[in-house]
Amino acid sequence: MTGRTVAPRLNHPRLLERIAKLAEIGAIEGGGVCRLALTEADKAGRDLVVGWMRELGLQISIDAIGNIVGLRPSRTTGAAARAPVMTGSHIDTVRTGGRYDGNLGVLAGLEVMESLNEAGVETEHPLAVAVFTNEEGARFAPDMMGSLVYVGGLPLEDALATEGIDGTRVDAELRKIGYDGAAPVGAPAVRAFVELHVEQGPVLEREGVTLGAVESLQGISWTEFSVSGVSNHAGTTPMRLRHDAGYLAGATITFVRDLTRELGGDQVGTVGAIEFGPNLVNVIPNRARFTVDLRNTDEDILQEAERRLRGFVAKTAEQEGLTIEQRQLARFEPVLFDAALVARIEEIAGRLGHSVRRLPSGAGHDAQMLARICPAAMIFVPSVGGISHNVREFTDASDIAAGADVLLHILLELAS
Ligand code: GLV
Ligand code: MN
Ligand code: MN
Repeated sequence: MTGRTVAPRLNHPRLLERIAKLAEIGAIEGGGVCRLALTEADKAGRDLVVGWMRELGLQISIDAIGNIVGLRPSRTTGAAARAPVMTGSHIDTVRTGGRYDGNLGVLAGLEVMESLNEAGVETEHPLAVAVFTNEEGARFAPDMMGSLVYVGGLPLEDALATEGIDGTRVDAELRKIGYDGAAPVGAPAVRAFVELHVEQGPVLEREGVTLGAVESLQGISWTEFSVSGVSNHAGTTPMRLRHDAGYLAGATITFVRDLTRELGGDQVGTVGAIEFGPNLVNVIPNRARFTVDLRNTDEDILQEAERRLRGFVAKTAEQEGLTIEQRQLARFEPVLFDAALVARIEEIAGRLGHSVRRLPSGAGHDAQMLARICPAAMIFVPSVGGISHNVREFTDASDIAAGADVLLHILLELAS
């Protein structure tokens, strides 16, 4: 590298090509992707990205929870090297995922590195692109697992011992795909973190705004309820004599919707997974397992929602003669991103000629974990129709280009 010779410019078509190429792995009907964390598809996606990192000359490290970091060294190397400015995201998806969620942030990071290489730009601080393990939490809870371990928010051993929805364990699955790395967890230390991501909601599109400077992230509460009742004949058992585990699951779905209406504001609530046993048309369920996802930007109201949910489930279980076990799958308080960094993102977006607004994030992101150890913020690009966690997830090429350009500029600023 020879000092700054040309102003770096991103090659937007190359970024789009990488997005399309990565989306071929685990492709599902409708243009979406299924690469649940630590599956063979996740491994194939990781292999592709690591190959690209290698081609770009990045120094690659993989830690014990499978986080991948590709480092682009700075002007100063060796013992005097400074903490890198990091970008990145995740490449695992939900079972019915789109091709942008997470992937955009990782691949835009690679495009920034490649453009800097081409322009011969040296930075004072190293730059790094991270691919964090299991951001989605769809197979192994909690979500943001890799970044949470990275920042010391979850002991490595606990993460490795996590059992998935298919009865597998994180440690065994990591070994199976060969991503149980040797790098120390939490290294390198991070100077600042900026993540580019699709909004996954309707705000930017509805307002005709190109970019979001994300200033906060709502709190997330995931609970799994396991209910035991008594199976009996659907035709002969009088209603008053039933101990119907399925009834509690159904009643909770309705309760959660009513609760969000009562609490109003930003409160959202979802029963997203449900299973009955024995799951037959003419047998009263003796078993139900279901999950509740509650989120709010206000921690006090989120706690109120949790209290009311627990109260409802306990009361209904008692009335129906059921026993319940509950397990917290994930719990994160709302996060405020670094105000100065958010302002810089907003300023750069405007300077590059893009409309921009501040907004909170409805989804969880790795950046919220990194915010515990360094200044962190995010750039959002619009999601067409506000749709995500769906194969129809889509973002216009021009919006991707705008977001990636802002990423380039903020990373350069932070690393100089
Ligand atoms: C992760 O994508 C989440 O917000 O559930
Ligand atoms: Mn994501
Ligand atoms: Mn997601």
